[in-house]
Amino acid sequence: MIHCLLYTEGRILLVSKTQAIDILKGGGNVAIPTETVYGLAGRYDSLKAVENIFRIKQRPSFDPLICHISNLEQIDLLTKNFDPTSQRLAKEFWPGPLTIVLPKSKNVDSLITAGLDTVAIRMPKHRLCQEIIEEVASPLCAPSANYFGKTSPSSMQHVETEFGGKLAVVDGGDCEIGIESTIVEVIDGQVFIHRSGMISKADMENLGFEVLDRKSKSAQGPGSMQDHYMPKVPFYLIKENKKQYLENKERLKEWKLEDDPYLAARNLYKNLRHQAETTSGFYTYISDEDGHWEAIWDRLKKASYRKDLF
Ligand code: TXA
Ligand code: MG
Repeated sequence: MIHCLLYTEGRILLVSKTQAIDILKGGGNVAIPTETVYGLAGRYDSLKAVENIFRIKQRPSFDPLICHISNLEQIDLLTKNFDPTSQRLAKEFWPGPLTIVLPKSKNVDSLITAGLDTVAIRMPKHRLCQEIIEEVASPLCAPSANYFGKTSPSSMQHVETEFGGKLAVVDGGDCEIGIESTIVEVIDGQVFIHRSGMISKADMENLGFEVLDRKSKSAQGPGSMQDHYMPKVPFYLIKENKKQYLENKERLKEWKLEDDPYLAARNLYKNLRHQAETTSGFYTYISDEDGHWEAIWDRLKKASYRKDLF
């Protein structure tokens, strides 16, 4: 496949949309843009492509993948039961940053779902991403295009920094949302949130959905690992009243988040990387504000060095 890759300055394996489609059609892997973060894509019906996603990402096989679709017809390939509440969620929020967990169909290999009988499905809003899925004419599995447990990529350059020339990437600009999708599962007509995102609990409640409290399901979702998005240097997320802990750590730099949560989310991973590259340690304050901040606190809690300070 190397002959069809474009080498630009440095080590970037930048490919065009057409080249990406060819690679994916042939069962290869390409990093593609979405409105949330870049994804490491491969077609869902190619075992080789799916195995390579786990291998390239160094992802443990117990962590299932999200399948991305470009139209509602593709959903029938993936699930045997698209219940009315999930259909309503899809109508309100697709295409967009919402992933819906549904009972899997027999077409979906258990490698994708890590042995679960459910599959996570999302219809992204990013135009280029939609066109790629449409032309490959197959749902695409795509976890965030970063090594397992590390910071997710919200630009093509982040993918390059992470995989340095080992993975082809399509440039779709900086991601508009900037953090990963909200993941939900409908249980007896109620919406359970597996992972928070910029579609908040209140956004769904305002449209009449009954949303369960995150703690109400005894079984934790597979995406609920405590350490994730970890930068290379110590990062502290601090409650104002734990400030004294920082007093002897003069070399820590304060990182001020933007006031607007959408802007803070959009720039979150870029700024997290910047802090990690330019400081020997840094900190920021967590506020009591929830709503659209919840997903941001979730990511920062997992990225932070000490879990007892917030
Ligand atoms: O915005 C996003 O969701 C991005 C873009 C590329 O679409 N993707 C993403 O994928 O964040 P990933 O693999 O980094 O995170 C997917 C999460 C994992 O934590 C996984 O555990 C969870 O989705 N997941 C996958 N299948 C699931 C299932 N059947 N039930 C519950 N959680 C599931
Ligand atoms: Mg990820």
